[in-house]
Amino acid sequence: AAEDLIAPSILSADFARLGEEVDNVLAAGADIVHFDVMDNHYVPNLTIGPLICEALRKHGVTAPIDVHLMVKPVDRIIPDFAQAGASYITFHPEASEHIDRTLQLIKAEGCKAGLVFNPATSLDYLKYELDKVDMVLLMSVNPGFGGQSFIPSALDKLREVRAMIDASGRDIRLEIDGGVKVDNIAEIKAAGADTFVSGSGIFGKGQDSDPHRYDGIIGQM
Ligand code: DX5
Ligand code: ZN
Repeated sequence: AAEDLIAPSILSADFARLGEEVDNVLAAGADIVHFDVMDNHYVPNLTIGPLICEALRKHGVTAPIDVHLMVKPVDRIIPDFAQAGASYITFHPEASEHIDRTLQLIKAEGCKAGLVFNPATSLDYLKYELDKVDMVLLMSVNPGFGGQSFIPSALDKLREVRAMIDASGRDIRLEIDGGVKVDNIAEIKAAGADTFVSGSGIFGKGQDSDPHRYDGIIGQM
């Protein structure tokens, strides 16, 4: 089985001090940076784009950056994120007209590619694209905001995707996103996830001077 990775969602970071916040979670033991891109169209919120990704690279972040695109359409922005230093680019199949083409575009741009499934989205698309994805991201909340509660049906979905990945024999990350906290991460791992996004479970829990302010999930894994 693949090594477990902790992916702090910078959506919950202090954007006025983003470089420092990312340095701190990586120093605390986080593995990859989860980067939530929202467009006020596919989801009802507006966040960050390629310029911020590039700024993190210029700041000196060398960890993988895991770009979660909650935008529609998706294709036009992909080369910009590749240029900006994205490592993984994942998108929601319902936001792309031609899913297979979008996956190919991400790979042609030199990034790892993944599909994202909302809580009620069927896994049918995955069945046909398992040979092309490097990551499957299962949403355990409806996308758009941090700080929501984990939707329990995501556990069954994790087990289903874990079985598909294992049967494929391919090296595919299984990432979970939404409501991941210290008290449910063990159960989520047991259901098959190997990459754990957490925003409100990691950021913003203490004063800057508190050396344990990023503990919890990072300390657990
Ligand atoms: C939701 C985002 C998540 C979110 C996770 O649309 O994709 O990454 O920020 O935040 P928490 O861990 O607070 O649920
Ligand atoms: Zn996300």
